[in-house]
Amino acid sequence: MIGYDKKTRILVLDNKSIGYAVYVNDAGYLETLYFGRSLSDYADFDCVRRAGEFSTPRYDAASGKETGYADAFKFDAAPLEISPHGLADKRGAPVIVRDERGSFITDFRFRSVRLLKEAPAIEGLPHAHGRCETADILLEDSDLHVRAHLYLTLFADKDALVKSFRFENTGKKKVRLTRAMSMQLDLPRCDYDLVHFGGRWAKERDYFCNPVADGVQEVSSNLGRSSAEENPFVFLKERSATMDCGEVIGFNLVYSGNFKFRTFTNFLRGLHITYGMNDEDFEWTLAPGEVFCTPQAVIVYSSHGIDAMSQTFHRFIRENLMTYADNCEYKPVLFNSWEGCTFHFDTDLILSYIDDACKIGTELFVLDDGWFGARDNDLAGLGDWTVNKGKIDLHRVMAHCRERGLKFGIWFEPEMVNPDSDLFRAHPEYALGWGRKELALGRHQLHLDFSNPDVVENIYAQMKAFLEEYPVDYIKWDYNRVVAEHVSAAFPPERQGEIYHRLVLGYYALLGRLTREYPHTMFEGCASGGGRFDMGTLYYCPQIWCSDESDPAQRIDIQFNTSLGYPLSCIGSHVNDSKVASYSAKAALALFGTYGYEMNPNLLTEGEIAELAQTAEIYKKYHRDVIANGTLYHLRAPYEGNHMCMQCVSRDASASVVLFMNKLKEQDMFRFVRLKGLDRKKKYRNTLDGAVHSGEYYLQIGLNLSKEGFAEFSHRLVLLTEET
Ligand code: DGJ
Repeated sequence: MIGYDKKTRILVLDNKSIGYAVYVNDAGYLETLYFGRSLSDYADFDCVRRAGEFSTPRYDAASGKETGYADAFKFDAAPLEISPHGLADKRGAPVIVRDERGSFITDFRFRSVRLLKEAPAIEGLPHAHGRCETADILLEDSDLHVRAHLYLTLFADKDALVKSFRFENTGKKKVRLTRAMSMQLDLPRCDYDLVHFGGRWAKERDYFCNPVADGVQEVSSNLGRSSAEENPFVFLKERSATMDCGEVIGFNLVYSGNFKFRTFTNFLRGLHITYGMNDEDFEWTLAPGEVFCTPQAVIVYSSHGIDAMSQTFHRFIRENLMTYADNCEYKPVLFNSWEGCTFHFDTDLILSYIDDACKIGTELFVLDDGWFGARDNDLAGLGDWTVNKGKIDLHRVMAHCRERGLKFGIWFEPEMVNPDSDLFRAHPEYALGWGRKELALGRHQLHLDFSNPDVVENIYAQMKAFLEEYPVDYIKWDYNRVVAEHVSAAFPPERQGEIYHRLVLGYYALLGRLTREYPHTMFEGCASGGGRFDMGTLYYCPQIWCSDESDPAQRIDIQFNTSLGYPLSCIGSHVNDSKVASYSAKAALALFGTYGYEMNPNLLTEGEIAELAQTAEIYKKYHRDVIANGTLYHLRAPYEGNHMCMQCVSRDASASVVLFMNKLKEQDMFRFVRLKGLDRKKKYRNTLDGAVHSGEYYLQIGLNLSKEGFAEFSHRLVLLTEET
């Protein structure tokens, strides 16, 4: 899959589906020659190289005269893997290293390349694994005495390429990294649309699509988390690309903190992309012998439209990123107590919730916020992870679940502390920003200083003690504010530029340790809903609560857009008691994720119980093989019109689930929804009208949803099963 030809100095990565080629030029710079569909011949790249060469006057030092013109490599034109900084390349280097002289100049040149049969393990950071090969390219800035490894990993069975850097100070003096992004990609054209997913709380991942801007453009977060405001998943698409055709290049970062995806379109109309950790307030000291690894950037290539990119991300995340032991198993129907009773419960109420949750197919009961410390509202208690025994008898609750065959889960918010807590009274210095006159509260809470290993250890000890006494099956790991004061009392002034990143490392250290020690406890990520929905978290948590907004009015978009970059199996989606749509519509939407509930189950009517129980049965039958492990097709995008339609097909094409929803009210109209992924020759019975048609019929003619008027937020959930 990967080969390096010493004679031509061309490195080729090709998995027979996509290809990538890099040339080591005479000066030792890595020129990116090609990225796209696999090529049968990688010998001739002169045309690409010449585009990066320009005629420059030659100067004869002896005579002091110009002696003519020659073609020479130009920094600001050539597509490079790592632009130098401070020389003639002003496009924006991915890396800046400063030494004790204060110089900004950073200039990495090729030394050697090693070909590996695996993905590199990135110390302290989540990283990809699986069937792949890696080119480990050693570069050096001999002036700074810093070495850089550029890792290029290509996957055997997926059109995915992973890039990252590892820096090592081989000199005798300290250096500072003031920018350390994960990748650079220079493309020889810029006529793409850039799609990104911005938003805010309860409106996460809105779809934004605009032509790539002239000059500089950024999609970024500086909130300390990947954020609801921008998601690290972005893609470039040819202007004419659709769900099924055209070139699409997707990017994501295996990281949960600040990020920056930056494009620069210059006068030559090429596109210079850098992606990685945001360099805002970033500065990392590397002492002699020390190493710094960047997070991995994942690039997915599709020449067949958006859905092919999206399906590659789905499989990549499930097969090459997630580490949860039971990842490919069925995910239980979850009932979460939060929206039903928030902080206001006692043991009897929770027992009654469990009894009624059983009637709607619940298999995992989760007690959310409010079970610990003095936590009766959001003013107090965070940081004190001991059961409030006066409020809840957790042993009894767990026994009650066990007797009914239910699993049990609990809520934590490990990275936070309320000023009104025993932890804060004992250790005010554990709060981030401690020592400043005033600290910013977010939801009445402060951010713990997870850059300080003592703080992480304290929370670990508390969680461990809890887990030893209460062996829960599931933990919801919440995170309800952003980083405001990125200042740590545990680090000297010159190291404060490390805090943003160290907070993320602390998060991974604790989450990694607990998931390793409790491999069968399922951890679900959450951050005020979907404020930390990213690949870093998914490495540890096989699912993430998608949004606090469960009402289909917003959920249609949130869930559809999230599923463009992330598999349905990781999208925590629950039915709540919002009034805009019927329970059956809300349940049908929640099926396209990991199904669950958030409501007061004591208030459900017999009819509602029957409706929800029926959808839970569909989930139990179809989730694993069709929805989680199957292939997802996006048939109608809600950002393009009044309809949303998604379809999942099992890998063997024997079953399919289709959801069609509209937003505004509609009358009769032609609504033939052509399906995808079915076997043309097979026969399928559908639950819309009970008819049996061939796969060809559904692919060419489609499901006929024309006949009736549609009320607001109404839906059709159609199951197709092979008739044998
Ligand atoms: C925010 C989450 O998104 C909710 O589901 C709930 O867990 C609350 N936090 C609890 O404080």
